[in-house]
This record gives sequence, structure tokens and C-alpha cells, in this order.
Amino acid sequence: MKNDGVTKGSVALLGLGTMGRVLAERLLDAGHPVTVWNRTPGRDTALVERGARRAETVREAVTAATTIVTCLFDHASVRETLEPVGADLTGRTLVDLTTTTPNEARWLGGWAEERGIEHLDGAIMATPSMIGAPEASLLYSGSAEAFGRHRTLFEVWGSATYDGADHGAASLFDLALLSGMYTMFTGFAHGAAMVTSAGVTAEEFAHRSARLLSAMTGVFPMTAKVIDEGDYTGPGQSLEWTATALDTIARASAEQGVSPGPIEMTRALVLAQIEAGYGNENSDRIYEELRAGCPGDPRRGEGPGRAARSSGPHRAGSPPDRPRATSPLPRGPMLEGGCPGFSHTEGDTPWPRFSWSPTTSPGPTPPVPGSPAPGCGWPP
Ligand SMILES: NC(=O)c1ccc[n+]([C@@H]2O[C@H](COP(=O)([O-])OP(=O)(O)OC[C@H]3O[C@@H](n4cnc5c(N)ncnc54)[C@H](OP(=O)(O)O)[C@@H]3O)[C@@H](O)[C@H]2O)c1
Repeated sequence: MKNDGVTKGSVALLGLGTMGRVLAERLLDAGHPVTVWNRTPGRDTALVERGARRAETVREAVTAATTIVTCLFDHASVRETLEPVGADLTGRTLVDLTTTTPNEARWLGGWAEERGIEHLDGAIMATPSMIGAPEASLLYSGSAEAFGRHRTLFEVWGSATYDGADHGAASLFDLALLSGMYTMFTGFAHGAAMVTSAGVTAEEFAHRSARLLSAMTGVFPMTAKVIDEGDYTGPGQSLEWTATALDTIARASAEQGVSPGPIEMTRALVLAQIEAGYGNENSDRIYEELRAGCPGDPRRGEGPGRAARSSGPHRAGSPPDRPRATSPLPRGPMLEGGCPGFSHTEGDTPWPRFSWSPTTSPGPTPPVPGSPAPGCGWPP
């Protein structure tokens, strides 16, 4: 590991946003020599007062430390910041805590390897106020050696988990976990919109919602078992039943003048699997629809969802000739005075369907040899 006369254990932190500043504070608390840099000057004042060294340039920062931590806005900002100083990073350890996709992390891992830079990708499963507290958790993947050497340092921020040598692994877990978080908050906001439309406070709703959702997480292991075994014929809520339930929720939402968007998202997955002939099977089967890939993706169907469709109604251990759903999906009329903009036509969906497409681009990321291709035409 390159030393260049810099103090062992010294850290350069690039990016003093909401998260970066707290990461730097905890390092200072733990007695690490810290050099800080931020694109916009002035964000380091409190840190410098506490003993951090100010770097005027990225090069000055990276050459002042053996370990370089980036906590920037996105992958594009990491590249913009690091590419001009690639040669200066040689022989040092780069830990990127910026939220990026797995392929972006793999790209950075490959870029680092070409320059003799040890690389770890990190994912912060915490808010800034949690950093340093026991509930904060950070995931890392990439160089095992670098993880082992830095583990004590990482633990000043929170628990440190090593997810393996694949540079994209920490990011994959991060974003998979965040998918659940974002959709849960969206569901909560949707429920809150429904009850507040009737004069109930969101605070009152929050208590009830938290109780139900906490209890529901206890079902995850059973759902996981069904998914892992690929058998959706056991007991549980059928797709047909679920479609009716979702339809009722969506109509209730529209009656209250509230967009049923989050319900429509789930409903689209359920309907697709019913249309493929699995209406009597367990609603956990929406997993297969997700694995089948994105509409329009040339790789759609490579996942188990399509494999299950093409080989019959079941993937494992069930008769191939189960009855298929033929009845039209239950759809009720919307009440007058319902959600403005959502008109109902008999036989048609009573609310607009979502069409998902990315709205921002992180810029071109060269493909990483041996890594999965980006899905859904993303990046474009
Ligand atoms: N905040 C959280 O709760 C949280 C939780 C987990 C993970 N994270 C991740 O941590 C990272 C930082 O989050 P944050 O909350 O600190 O964001 P933030 O407050 O918006 O800070 C973004 C940082 O990136 C810098 N930056 C943006 N574009 C840049 C560019 N082109 N070149 C150089 N620097 C650039 C900003 O510099 P300027 O000051 O010059 O704009 C700032 O230092 C993100 O990837 C985020 O997803 C955040």
C-alpha cells in the first residue's frame, strides 16, 4: 500500500453533503487524521474547526491520505471527481460510499484495478443522524483485504458487513432493500391520503399502519420459502382473490379522490400472471412476473417467470393442467364524485395504467466484462 509519507490510517473524505459531513465527524471523533474536500467551498468550516485538514483540490486531498472515501451525489459525480486524479490514486484504497447501481460499482472496480487502486464499494443503510449509532449498518464489497484492514475504521460509522468480492454486491443489496423501503413509504402515503381525505390525521393513521406493517414482515420467511421452492400451489391468497382486493382498494381510493397509483402498480403484476394462466395460484407469484423482466427488454423471458410460462402453468411439483383463469376481472363502477381525471369505461381499466421509464441518466457507463448486462434498457 502506497504511503508517500502520509500518516497511516489517514482518510480523505470527498463530498461534504449531508452524509459526508457526518461521516467525517465520526472519523474525527475516533481520532483519525482526516482531510476533507468538497466541490463547493465553505461546507468544511465546522470540520476544520474540529481538526480536519482542508484540501483545496481533489488531488491535494487524495495525496494526503492512504484511504480515500467518496460520498458524492451519484456515479457520474464520482467519475467526474476521480478520473482526473486516477494516477494519484494508484497504491491507495478507494471506498465509494456513493449510492450507485451494481454495474456502476463494478465499472469503478475495474477502473480502479487497471490503475492499481484497491477498491471497495460501500452502501450506507442509515440516515445521517444514525451514523455512529448501533442501528447504522453499512455494506461493503470488493477487495476482501481492504475490508479486513479497514474494518475497525468502518465500525466508527456503524456495523460493517462484507458482501463478497463482486464489487456490485453491496450496491445490489442496498438497492434491493431500498426498493422495499420506497414502496412501503409510497403505500403508507397512499393510505394516509385516503384517510386524510375523510378528515383523519396522518398521525393517527401512522400508529395503525405501523402496527399492521410490522406484523406483516413476519410473513416474509414464508413468502421466501414459496419463492425459493418455486411452488405457488400451496395455501395462501390466490392471484384472482388478490386482484379483487386490489380492485376494491383502487375503487375506494378513487371514491376518496385519491390516485390509486401504488395499487395499480401491484395490480399490473397480478393481472399479468392471471393472464398467463395462474389465477388460482398463490399471489406470491408476482415474483415470477418481476423475474420475467421489463416489457420491451429483449432479455424478457430469460428469468424464471417466462420459463414457468413456456413450460406450463407450474415451475415445480404441480400438475400441468390446473384450470386457467377465464372469467373477466372483477371491476366495479366508480362512484360519482370520484377521483377527478380517472374516468371509468365499462370493460376498461378505471384508472390510467402506469408506464414506467427512467427520467434521468447517469451518463454512459462502459460495460463491465463478465457482469450482467444492464436491464430494461437502463442505462439507455
Ligand atoms: N442522506 C442520506 O440519508 C443518505 C443515506 C444513505 C446513502 N446516502 C448516499 O450518500 C451520498 C451523498 O448523499 P448526501 O445526502 O450527502 O447528498 P447531498 O447532501 O446532496 O450531497 C451531495 C454531495 O455531492 C457533491 N456533488 C454533487 N455533484 C458533484 C459533482 N458533479 N462533482 C463533485 N461533487 C459533487 C455535492 O457537492 P456540492 O456541495 O458542491 O454540491 C455534495 O458534497 C448519495 O449517494 C446518497 O444516496 C445518503
